[in-house]
Amino acid sequence: MVSGEHMRELSNGLSMPSIGFGTWDLSNENEAKSAVVQAVECGYTLIDGAARYGNEVGVGEGIRSSSLSREELFVTSKVWTNHRDYDSVIEACNKSLKDLKLDYLDLYLIHWPAVSKQYENWKDVNHEVWQALIDLYTQGKVKAIGVSNFNVDHLEALEGSSVMPMVNQIEFHPGFLQEDVRSYCKDHNIVVEGWRPLGLGESLSHEIIWNLAEKYKKNPAQIVLRWCLHKDVVPLPKSRSREHIEQNIDIFDFSLSDDDIALIDTIEGERLGGDPEEAPF
Ligand SMILES: NC(=O)c1ccc[n+]([C@@H]2O[C@H](COP(=O)([O-])OP(=O)(O)OC[C@H]3O[C@@H](n4cnc5c(N)ncnc54)[C@H](OP(=O)(O)O)[C@@H]3O)[C@@H](O)[C@H]2O)c1
Repeated sequence: MVSGEHMRELSNGLSMPSIGFGTWDLSNENEAKSAVVQAVECGYTLIDGAARYGNEVGVGEGIRSSSLSREELFVTSKVWTNHRDYDSVIEACNKSLKDLKLDYLDLYLIHWPAVSKQYENWKDVNHEVWQALIDLYTQGKVKAIGVSNFNVDHLEALEGSSVMPMVNQIEFHPGFLQEDVRSYCKDHNIVVEGWRPLGLGESLSHEIIWNLAEKYKKNPAQIVLRWCLHKDVVPLPKSRSREHIEQNIDIFDFSLSDDDIALIDTIEGERLGGDPEEAPF
């Protein structure tokens, strides 16, 4: 095990795990609960959720049924795009806390930015939502705040706020590196989380990844997730399979060489999810 790699420090001094478990597309009934319980058993302490996933009741049950105490876990939720005025954002956060049956969140994110295609005054809209997150943070309801799917111009528009985002959660996988956003985040001390790190499983069949899996005696998912860590990105893999959940966090006993990291960087690909500028939601 390589020490110091398991945690990242946010700009407010809070420690955040360097890999998390994604909960999108897990049903609210037993699926979300059992996946969270299994993830914690396998060593994950960061649980990435969102009101939009419609499963916060199940995720909360999983958290309470897990073997770890609340303080040992790092729980994320996100405010959806139907909450874009101040009071509505506060209500949305309270609803997530109620569904999860938690007193606080470790991280609360704006799920998608308001953009120019939707609003002439998109900057004002994002400012209003962001101010609500700042107030939730100041009141201690959330320990850290950030954004998701924010491009550079959306982040720049928040400059001058009393608190800047501590995290930006963006699509990231081989073939889709978002260099401009990651470079801005690095320069402004914003930790990048990567959603869809396995490219919904697609990246795993690339020849380069297969060859590296053989070379390092690891499986393709472990090569891709280890590469995320080398790129300073916190990956949020999701799986329903116990075997995959276990494999995906077993990435701390090896390192990729600089040449092999650069080789993965050359893989061609494209965005698999929504483009923020196209206002997909
Ligand atoms: N902020 C946002 O807008 C946003 C958007 C999308 C997602 N997210 C977050 O990011 C998380 C992850 O994204 P994602 O679920 O879209 O994609 P992902 O984690 O990249 O891919 C999930 C797929 O990969 C497969 N998989 C997982 N581990 C594997 C392994 N070791 N070997 C082979 N296949 C494997 C899974 O199948 P099995 O179940 O069979 O393992 C599943 O089909 C989400 O759950 C959510 O928390 C955020």
